[in-house]
Order: sequence, then structure tokens, then C-alpha cells
Amino acid sequence: MEKDIQRKDIIEKLDSDLTVIKTKNDLASLKALYLGKTGVITNLSSKMKELDPSDRKEYGKFLNELKMEVLEKLETASKEIESRELEEKLNKEKIDITLPGRKHLKGSIHPMTRIIEELEDLFVSMGYDVISGPEVETDMNCFTKLNLPVGHPARDSQDTFYIDNDYLLRSHTSPAQVRTMEANTLKEPLRIVCPGKVYRRDDDATHSHQFMQFEGLVVGENISLADLKGTLELFAKKLLGEKTNVRFRPSYFPFTEPSCEVDVTCFKCGGKGCSLCKQTGWIEVLGAGVVHPNVLRMSGYDPEKYTGFAFGPGIDRFAMFKYGITDIRQIYTNDIRFLEQFDRKDVE
Ligand code: DAH
Repeated sequence: MEKDIQRKDIIEKLDSDLTVIKTKNDLASLKALYLGKTGVITNLSSKMKELDPSDRKEYGKFLNELKMEVLEKLETASKEIESRELEEKLNKEKIDITLPGRKHLKGSIHPMTRIIEELEDLFVSMGYDVISGPEVETDMNCFTKLNLPVGHPARDSQDTFYIDNDYLLRSHTSPAQVRTMEANTLKEPLRIVCPGKVYRRDDDATHSHQFMQFEGLVVGENISLADLKGTLELFAKKLLGEKTNVRFRPSYFPFTEPSCEVDVTCFKCGGKGCSLCKQTGWIEVLGAGVVHPNVLRMSGYDPEKYTGFAFGPGIDRFAMFKYGITDIRQIYTNDIRFLEQFDRKDVE
């Protein structure tokens, strides 16, 4: 009888304790209060010694049952807390599956990069190497070794950005010729192209202070103007279409002799005459020529043994034509709204 009352009191107390606990920590403290070293149940067990041995068995059974009941209640409470915590967490992290997904911005290949890749492919297929040179160049490589000594009037035509007396931002990719010939210590024949940025003090809708050239140089035995002509015809037809014609006009560059300027059939009107070609049907696209013996000599090549040709188109115009770009500066301002239009699949 007494035991029953004890049990009832303990369980009632536990039930009421369980109504106020909220967390797993509270539950652990409660467990210690009942089953810990100095807990209610443990205290009851210590009374065993005081009992008559004949009563001990029954008391032990009572304690066991009580302990089991307490454990069961604690276990149930623990599960309740767990599921409540889980529910709270889920409510907090609720995902609204009706929200539209986030769009990932997809990059595209820059129109200038495409032109360069196309040209590189063409020249690589003809056995050329692709090289690059620094944009900060020496005055020596950019001018002197290209047969433009200090004081040469043609230096002015390039409106160069100087860094100091010896260094400048290259005004053309032609110094790549010097670099390649000098690096080729065995002075063997060579074929290279060099795409790259060049800089001049110029800035309007058709001139940018920074633009792109694509230098070419071939040096070998018996290289002639005829090889240059054949190469540039191929270049023009491949880039601008089979119907494109090429015209060579005599010109002057200090690093070539003879020198020429090369025109192609106007890519806008197909040769009929329009505002782009100023009604001539032709558009000038590059300077070229047979490498001047002085240039070969200054870079260690014997002009008696070797000859060569070189060419250097500005290639922004090709990109402008091919992609309908009207202001050259758009090519370099990296405005994403402009660049987004050149999704690879739209063009190819
Ligand atoms: N470097 C010249 C320029 O920027 C273009 C040029 C002309 C390059 C004749 C050449 C060449 O390689 O042979 O105006």
C-alpha cells in the first residue's frame, strides 16, 4: 500500500515535471533528478538495506518496475522533443517550391576572340606557329630594329604612348618579328603569326586607343612577293568569303621593301560601292611587304641567304564587319549587354 502511494507520487511528480521541459538538455537534467546518483529512484534503492531480507525481493521488483516506468516516460518525452525540434527546423527552413529558379548567366566567346581563333586555325593549318609578345615593348624592338632609327619621320605616324625613353606600349605587333628572329638562335626558316593588342593615341568611333593586330612573318630561302600574295588571298577569302577579291597597291613601310597595302572587296556592298568603302568597292585591310634586308640583318639573319615576307592587319574591322558592330569602342568596354548578343550558337 505504502509502495503504491510512493509510486503514484513519483509518477505524478514526473508527469508534471515533464509538462514544463522543452529541450533535450532539460530532459537530461530531469533524468538525473530521478535516476542519477542522488536521484529519487536511486535514493529508494538505498533503503533496501534497511528492509527485512524477506521483503527485499518484492521491494526490488517494485523498484525495477518503477524504474522501467520512469525510463519509458523519459523515452517518450525524448521522442516528442525530437519530433518537435525537427518540425520547428523544417518550418524555419521552409522552401517555397513555387518560386521561379535562379538563372545562371552563361558566358559567350568574345567576337574578337572568335576572329583570332579563326585566323589562328587557318595559319596553323598552313604550318605557322602562334606566338605572343609583351604589350610593354622596348623602343629598340618596336622601332629601331624594324629599320626606324631614332629621328626617323615615320615614328611620328604611330602616335605612340611612351613609358620612358626606352619603353613604350607597342604601337604595332611588328616587334614580334624581331623577337622571333632573335629567339631563333640557329637562324632557321620560320613561319609565325602573332595576334595581340596594340596602342595608339587615337579615340573615335572607328579608332580606339587600343586595338588588335595580327602580325605574320615568314623567313626562309627563296621566299618572294608571290608567296605573300598567295597567302593573303587565301587569308581574305577564308575570313571574308570566297567571293572576296584582293588588290595590292604599292606603299611604304620602313621594315619592308617593296611594301604594299592590301585592299579587299568591300564586305558591305560586295564591290558595288557604298558609304563604307567610299564608293570605291574596296576596303584597305593591311600593310605588308618583303622583309627589308636591314631588318633581317639586325636580328641576325643573313639577307644574302634568307628573304621573307611580313603582313600586319588590324583585325577589329573584321570583327566589326562579321558581327555588325558599328563602334569599335564597344569591342573593348566589356559591357555585358553588348557581349551577351554573341552567344556561340547564334553565330555558328
Ligand atoms: N606594323 C604596321 C602598322 O601597324 C603594319 C605592317 C605593315 C606590318 C607592313 C607588317 C608589314 O608586317 O610588313 O601600321
